[in-house]
Amino acid sequence: MKFSLLSTALLATISFVSNAEALWKPTVGSTWNYVLGHKINLATEKAEVLEIDVNKSASLIQEYHNVGKKVICYFSGGTIEDFRDDKKDYEAVPGLVRNTYEAWDDEKWLDFRIEGIKPLIIKRMKLAVSKNCDGIEVDNVDAYQMKEVKSWTDPITREQTVVFLKWLGSTAHSLGISIGLKNVNGLIDEVGQYFDFAINEDCHHYNDECRKYKNFLASGKPVFAVAY
Ligand SMILES: *[C@@H]1O[C@H](CO)[C@@H](O)[C@H](O)[C@H]1NC(C)=O
Repeated sequence: MKFSLLSTALLATISFVSNAEALWKPTVGSTWNYVLGHKINLATEKAEVLEIDVNKSASLIQEYHNVGKKVICYFSGGTIEDFRDDKKDYEAVPGLVRNTYEAWDDEKWLDFRIEGIKPLIIKRMKLAVSKNCDGIEVDNVDAYQMKEVKSWTDPITREQTVVFLKWLGSTAHSLGISIGLKNVNGLIDEVGQYFDFAINEDCHHYNDECRKYKNFLASGKPVFAVAY
């Protein structure tokens, strides 16, 4: 009895370690293509890392792996889009789904301080793991900076965002998948250690914004950038 207990404990330790070691850690200088909307032509695609929506099929991800690409899978953690097939699960959590994101009017802001969001996010992360995505991007974690959320009577704060981000990073790692921090570069020095890479939109448009990645980059983690 004692012996079998011990070996179970040992096995659990070993599988935890191999999970952690298997985590994909992209390096500074990796090339990247952000392709949420259209198809990727593998014959001409040069980027080493491709980002696609988590709703894409496992067989497509396998095709990308077969030619040596790494795959980041996208989902939104700060909003719920009308087309998601788990939208009803979000609506079933009291207080979770809030007002419309004006720039993307098929999306509604989520109050991610509500505990009931956690199993839903974990389910999405597990979906990404089951499809063999190498990493995930959890979008729209910048709610506290957005005017629609600032207008709530109980707006999400910067500190509450930091708490949520640390939870996202730790949870992804505990499930064995790498995770990128999307935007919120003003928080990167506080939460960067919980993330394996960053994704930034348009930091060069704003004074000094790209510079906020200095320490993160110096720690050997890449920032994948998109300019519009
Ligand atoms: C998959 O996600 C993309 C956005 O990333 C969306 O345009 C598309 O409608 C989604 N497809 C399905 C079947 O949900």
